[in-house]
Amino acid sequence: MKPECLRIRGLKVVFHSAEGFIKAVEGVDLDVREGECVAIVGESGCGKSVTGLSMMRLLSSPPAIWRADELSYTTRDGELIDVRNAPESRLEALRGDEISMIYQDPSSALNPVMSIGAQIEEIYKYHTKLSKKEARAAGIEMLRRVGIPAPEKRWEQFPHELSGGMKQRVLIAMAMALKPKLLIADEPTTALDVTIQAQILSLLSDLCKKEGTALVMITHDLGVVRSVADRVYVMYCGKIMEQGSCSEILDRPLHPYTKGLIASIPALGERMKRFCQIPGNVPNPAAKPNGCYFCNRCSAASDICRERMPALREAPDDPEHRFRCHNAGGSENE
Ligand SMILES: Nc1ncnc2c1ncn2[C@@H]1O[C@H](COP(=O)(O)OP(=O)(O)OP(=O)(O)O)[C@@H](O)[C@H]1O
Ligand code: SF4
Ligand SMILES: [Mg+2]
Repeated sequence: MKPECLRIRGLKVVFHSAEGFIKAVEGVDLDVREGECVAIVGESGCGKSVTGLSMMRLLSSPPAIWRADELSYTTRDGELIDVRNAPESRLEALRGDEISMIYQDPSSALNPVMSIGAQIEEIYKYHTKLSKKEARAAGIEMLRRVGIPAPEKRWEQFPHELSGGMKQRVLIAMAMALKPKLLIADEPTTALDVTIQAQILSLLSDLCKKEGTALVMITHDLGVVRSVADRVYVMYCGKIMEQGSCSEILDRPLHPYTKGLIASIPALGERMKRFCQIPGNVPNPAAKPNGCYFCNRCSAASDICRERMPALREAPDDPEHRFRCHNAGGSENE
């Protein structure tokens, strides 16, 4: 097993809202190993982005109030960084160099008044000693690698002259320009036309595999993870509900919520009488139910589910596969 490059223990994030305190993330433990792809999956509002932003201390505080028992990152040189207490200047140097992020909306992530080339050049200027000419050559090569035709021409163009898919390719080129050790991609394809989502995802995944970059893929769509992820964390209402290898989670899910997400994946070419969906809605984050947060939507709920939050426990035959349910995989007390 490869060593971890990111280790999170007991991450908690709270926001103060007009309705009261919102516990956005409630004690998340998460590891990312070198070169692997980890997917964080769950419905809207379950805390995926807040978890992703916390990884590099990018949450604005206030409004966020956060703490973690451990939040550590191991650099390319093997230095262990305690992200909780590291000076901002140290993290600033790591961001964009060793650690990159790609966001959901490519339009707002690019500067509309700077050419594509000038924006890529800035990355090399800030993090490397390359001359302007060398930066241009490296940048154009990167645009070519992400499948942008006529990259010399694109170099001079402005974001509004590119399609959404092209802009997302530019962002991937920027994120991968310095061969980061860790890339956090938050819903990188949801703003794109469905026909090019798969292309962009496989481009991202291939590039990360080639460069040995660990990828954290945040998505609400469990359907996209099979082709890219090694391991999956399923989140609901700020908690990890199930985690394990991609094949365990997709082929042998134990948690009713994961099963619901899998059942909601539309199967291509299959004629379905009715589109499956999980009944009910995600609870108001300021008024989560007692006991298991999924109890109001779960067909397997029993009395104990409404009283006590289940602990995260190991599946009988795979210690890497863990789930948070009183009733799945045999009762907790068996
Ligand atoms: N700046 C903020 N102020 C107040 N509440 C916030 C803030 N940012 C996030 N939240 C709350 O934290 C919870 C988790 O939000 P988060 O953005 O992590 O969800 P998500 O899983 O990424 O959802 P989506 O799939 O819609 O992007 C939500 O209830 C959200 O309303
Ligand atoms: S603990 Fe109960 S309510 Fe929660 S997922 Fe399991 S069976 Fe459903
Ligand atoms: Mg989000």
